[in-house]
Amino acid sequence: MCGIVGYIGDKEAAPILIDGLKSLEYRGYDSAGVSIYDHKIKCVKTKGRLINLEERLNNNMLHGNLGIGHTRWATHGEPSDINSHPHMNSTNTISLVHNGIIENYMTIKEKLESKGQKFVSETDTEVAVQLIDYYYSKNHNLLDAVLKAMDKIEGSYAFGVICNDEPDKIIAVRKDSPLIIGIGKGENYIASDIPAILEHTRDVYLLEDKEIAIVTKDNVKIIDIDKNEVTKEIYNVTWDLKAARKEGFDHFMLKEIFEQPRVVKDTLTPRLPLDVNDIVLDDINMSKEVLEKINKIYIVACGTASYTGLVGKYLIERVARIPVVAEVASEFRYREPILDENTLMIVVSQSGETADTLAALRLAKKAGAYVIGIVNAVGSTISRDADDVLYTLAGPEIAVASTKAYSAQLCAMYLLSIKIAMELGKISKDEFLELREELYELPDKVGTVLEQADTIKELADKYINSKNVFYIGRGLDYAVSMEGALKLKEIAYLHAEPYAAGELKHGPIALIEDNSLLVGLTGHEELFEKTVSNIKEVKARGAKVLAIALEGNDEIGKIADDVIYVPRTHWMFTSLLENIPQQIFAYYISVGLGNDVDKPRNLAKSVTVE
Ligand code: F6R
Repeated sequence: MCGIVGYIGDKEAAPILIDGLKSLEYRGYDSAGVSIYDHKIKCVKTKGRLINLEERLNNNMLHGNLGIGHTRWATHGEPSDINSHPHMNSTNTISLVHNGIIENYMTIKEKLESKGQKFVSETDTEVAVQLIDYYYSKNHNLLDAVLKAMDKIEGSYAFGVICNDEPDKIIAVRKDSPLIIGIGKGENYIASDIPAILEHTRDVYLLEDKEIAIVTKDNVKIIDIDKNEVTKEIYNVTWDLKAARKEGFDHFMLKEIFEQPRVVKDTLTPRLPLDVNDIVLDDINMSKEVLEKINKIYIVACGTASYTGLVGKYLIERVARIPVVAEVASEFRYREPILDENTLMIVVSQSGETADTLAALRLAKKAGAYVIGIVNAVGSTISRDADDVLYTLAGPEIAVASTKAYSAQLCAMYLLSIKIAMELGKISKDEFLELREELYELPDKVGTVLEQADTIKELADKYINSKNVFYIGRGLDYAVSMEGALKLKEIAYLHAEPYAAGELKHGPIALIEDNSLLVGLTGHEELFEKTVSNIKEVKARGAKVLAIALEGNDEIGKIADDVIYVPRTHWMFTSLLENIPQQIFAYYISVGLGNDVDKPRNLAKSVTVE
């Protein structure tokens, strides 16, 4: 949540900050602002989208070669001009941007108020800048003031701080919120995420918790909280810049949907070399001995990533015969789960920064469990904190609603499930070879589904006025239905609910009325007849039925109003193919309703607060 960026060098800072913020807007778009040093710090900020800030800057361009910028997802204090970042101390000499939440801000605020300091906003962030100001007034050293403030502040933060009296530097620190330092020539950057600076440099430092960067024009010095210098390796970003651009598509979401054949291929095939009859997961170091002792697996994640967990539960239990609990991280972390050294935890996260998922991971590690992360963002906190990481190779996902990252997570989960089962002798080499063949065909099959985009658009137009949409399925299809309903809710703002098909008649069927829309997932063939009975029960009560089915299934065509067919594959992998029409359907409904597809209201992509 919230994106921060900073620049120091010889160029005009404002356009660089604005461009950076454009790439970070996915992290929040309630308000935006910049502070630029032009003989003194000048701050312009405003409620609403970045475009509002640009308009303000057009009328009042700030000139200077040092600056910090922010795009906000409001936590404490409503979206308003005054609550926007950057925040300033009362004498307007120190400016700060923040991503995270200061948990003890009320205590600090009361103390500072008792010493006469005045606050103007309702935010937790203002406390940080006022606290730094308090210490700065004592010895006029920005670094020392930030270090002292860090000692008092509890919670999560990435800060960028600049000061009138020390205009040769940005002080950048992080704890539980992401922050990177971009290394240029005669210029340096700070940012919440790589796309914000990718146009300027590919060399970055990934700050660890409680590391402090003193960023000047010609140098980046990184120290720990005790002021010991930290030697860090430069991480070279190899992504293609195109990945962070729309490349002719109307929206990032559509572009990312259409990238899926490539993403599926990239995530699967390097791990399935044809000259080795095995799955090669280079970064998974868990020994067979450790695996053999595992008697329970938790798969923990949030939102879409948690639905990967549901698929994983189904697959691992079925093929590896180990009990699996799939759970959302926000519940898991607070219910005193039973964890020990015989527990494997798999955490799934696109951003690798989701606060609840990270907390669940740390809880598990503390209890001695082994943690594998399925993560997209290379170098993210979760990827670094997990014992092993299985990267999804989706590339940067810019649209707030997850599409390609989810497909890549499913692929990683397929590989992990099969690998665990093979290691435990539950899948034979011959069975593996059959599965591998199917996995190799998946990218083309994804392409076949995408070829139906125009037809799915027509269905989206037909059902655009639906008020309540029910997604149902059994087994793996139930997991798929969850993702379908979430996509429709988050980008189309339509009320949509997923149900286990067999549960309908235990209550939810009372909601069905004429013209309700039911999306029936029927790809889990073992349970096809059962799901079809449930679909018929709903149809008999007046609902329209849009089915997603495996090609060649003629029976469903006689029952449903419309059917989207997806290619056949091994039962383990149908979830991936069935989900793609749901993405396209939600996308076109959202477009048809005139919504901001890539930046749906109230959301942010990277949820670094709980
Ligand atoms: C929905 C969506 C979210 C994320 C969730 C977890 O389209 O993107 O539900 O899946 O916020 O985020 P990550 O995967 O970054 O941990």
